[in-house]
Amino acid sequence: MTALVHTRAGLDPYLAGFANSRRGVVMTMGALHEGHAELLRAARRSCDLLVATVFVNPLQFGPNEDFDRYPRTLDEDLKVCQSAGVDVVLAPAADEVYPGGAPMVKVTPGPMGEVLEGEFRPGFFTGVLTVVNKLLNITRPDVAFFGEKDAQQLALVRRMALDLNMNVEIVGVPTVRDTDGLAKSSRNRYLGEDERVVALSLSRALFAGEGQTARGPEAVRDAARRTLVEPVEAGALTVDYLALVDPRDFTEVPAGHRGPAVLAVAARVGSTRLIDNVPLTF
Ligand code: PAJ
Repeated sequence: MTALVHTRAGLDPYLAGFANSRRGVVMTMGALHEGHAELLRAARRSCDLLVATVFVNPLQFGPNEDFDRYPRTLDEDLKVCQSAGVDVVLAPAADEVYPGGAPMVKVTPGPMGEVLEGEFRPGFFTGVLTVVNKLLNITRPDVAFFGEKDAQQLALVRRMALDLNMNVEIVGVPTVRDTDGLAKSSRNRYLGEDERVVALSLSRALFAGEGQTARGPEAVRDAARRTLVEPVEAGALTVDYLALVDPRDFTEVPAGHRGPAVLAVAARVGSTRLIDNVPLTF
């Protein structure tokens, strides 16, 4: 049975019961889908105690973003956690996570947090890293799992753990997609039928780029860009960025780049903003 707790005090007895075993955490904002479920299953396989957190973090939403309309489906989320074998769900209220109100001290992501998502969502990664740090302090895991779907977030969390000497292992889990290629996302439920068809052009662009890996970074960029021309010209899609970056710092890779890279895209379909990426090796 999955237990549900809302406070740190409620969670502590579970943590104490697994003091000398491997404790894992999967952090989420709820509205759980098959991508989250895969993260939970991967975590379940490698941990003795598995904690999932469900918290829609106000600090990572901009003033004109979807904090108010973000789906809140705790009853359904508990069922997903139950099937994935989660031991405890922590679903805290805002004042449990932010006991002093709006925090004065925050985690600064540095240059990697200012490009791509950071450029289009100012303050986003400060909000993410601050809450990830808080939730790590509350849940005190040996290992925490994050999706490659949010590749820049994963890279920044890894970097935070390294730069702040945090005693936690960070594990990345590959992106889960619908059979037609669309990356699973809590925000997909905002999409109308026609919008969902347009949204497919994101993964199609990434796969087109991926198919040109043998011909080098420029060919990858071109193939991906070409796929997006039609929906953009039709006014159905607004691209925030399409970028081919080094996974260590999220700067654009040069033409002769060798080694790993991430082809990442962010775009808006109607009022829904979507992101996706694929990892490549040159
Ligand atoms: P959320 O968007 O709910 O995602 C929770 C975790 O699930 C993240 O690690 C994310 O990368 C992963 N995830 C989402 N969609 C996925 C997919 N299709 N395949 C694989 N993994 C997927 O990311 C956040 O919440 C927040 O920023 C959070 C880290 C919880 C901090 O508030």
